[in-house]
Amino acid sequence: MNPRILVVDDYPASVEPVVEILEREGYELLTASRGREALSILNKENVDVVITDLKMPDLSGLELLEYVRDKHPYTQVILLTAYGTVDSAVEAMSTGAVSYLQKPIKIDILRQTVKNALEKRILFLQNINLREQLDEKFGFANIIGTSKPMLDLFDKIKRVAPTNVIVLITGETGVGKDLIANAIHNHSRRRDKPYKTINCATLYRELLESELFGHERGAFTGAIARRRGVFEQADGGMLFLDEVGEMGTETQVKFLRVLEGHEFTRVGGEEPIRADVRVIAATNKDLEEAVKNKEFRADLYHRLNRFPLHVPPLRERREDIPLLASAFIKEFSREHDAPVTRITAEAMEYLKNADWPGNVRELRNVIETAVILATTDTIGIKDLSPELQDSTPVSMPISDETVGRVGMTMEEIEKDAIRKTLDETDGNKTKAAQILKIGLRTLHRKLQSYSLSNKADGEENDM
Ligand SMILES: Nc1ncnc2c1ncn2[C@@H]1O[C@H](COP(=O)(O)OP(=O)(O)OP(=O)(O)O)[C@@H](O)[C@H]1O
Ligand SMILES: [Mg+2]
Repeated sequence: MNPRILVVDDYPASVEPVVEILEREGYELLTASRGREALSILNKENVDVVITDLKMPDLSGLELLEYVRDKHPYTQVILLTAYGTVDSAVEAMSTGAVSYLQKPIKIDILRQTVKNALEKRILFLQNINLREQLDEKFGFANIIGTSKPMLDLFDKIKRVAPTNVIVLITGETGVGKDLIANAIHNHSRRRDKPYKTINCATLYRELLESELFGHERGAFTGAIARRRGVFEQADGGMLFLDEVGEMGTETQVKFLRVLEGHEFTRVGGEEPIRADVRVIAATNKDLEEAVKNKEFRADLYHRLNRFPLHVPPLRERREDIPLLASAFIKEFSREHDAPVTRITAEAMEYLKNADWPGNVRELRNVIETAVILATTDTIGIKDLSPELQDSTPVSMPISDETVGRVGMTMEEIEKDAIRKTLDETDGNKTKAAQILKIGLRTLHRKLQSYSLSNKADGEENDM
């Protein structure tokens, strides 16, 4: 798959040589002679690099750059500047343009600048940059996220991991609680010691207690031999108690006793057993509420809640979605030996706007399915699950209409609004003027000046 480059310039003589040179490099070239045309191409096609002139009649190169930064952060922008316009170029650099090329363009410099831009894009896509920084700082290579709440979380993990403090991880299903518990173990002084997990929801009381504390032979029907529980097995290390909110109140009493005295007895046993275990607990339940409803013991809750780590749902940190999505694309293309390497900007908009009740787990599943379904190297909207496509995104993906607006002048927007309103009122100007909250005479004047005659639906919109 060849990198795709969009050249935007209103002056054909500038475009042609650039296109020729870059095509010879094996790139796929697209061209636009207007900024607005470029916007609609960007929203339909996957573009790796945009090379744009600074001065264009409808939309400046800087405005285009700003739009790309905002809507297509993976796409790199190279600005073409005339000799001596360094000021605007400097301005461009500070808003994040990859680089600028001075006219007249030198072939070698053009080649190199495009090459650099592509490399930067790949780096960005694979998140190598950010991951390396994060790894250096925290070493959480497998937990992806650069949003403020995630960085705060990493910071807390880093601080609490080397201590022996009990940690309570809370958050909706699929936000990454297991992953975080693991990270705490990996960053603790107990990292070379056992790490045991137990899920309090899947077991009935007798079995849960036997799993936790072990049992003596004959303690209950089926207990044919003495068994060590996870507390004993995790001695010196850590125990991850998942879904702790589901633990029955009787078991809670025993558990609290262990936390307080580091001592317990096996089910059916007398002999007190000591174990040095650091506990990490997780729940997607509101424990405070459970305490109020007398489903969870207040004393145990306070004991567990000494160092709460709350993992926010994905919809509250949408800026992590592109990074997660590209990491999952990479992971699953490798796993399923699929050719997929990217995702259209449109499909990404859907991902960014969905509600994700199943959080990261759900996103991961959606990407895996899409990687399997995709027939090309690019995931498109059609590869996303129907539910996702049907879901009402918080903000709709950019429609052609809004794309049009970005590059439109106030005059054009006004003209458009008048035309559409007249369409709605079947050409009734009095009604249209009321809707637009302007006087009838003003409307007439505007119709004349915009040469929108009586026929509101006359000419085609030039977008
Ligand atoms: N920040 C993240 N970066 C990468 N992968 C993530 C991240 N968060 C979650 N995942 C992945 O999403 C899936 C669900 O994560 P995990 O099992 O840790 O969620 P959980 O909060 O424990 O959910 P539950 O409450 O259902 O047990 C896993 O495959 C995990 O690897
Ligand atoms: Mg879990």
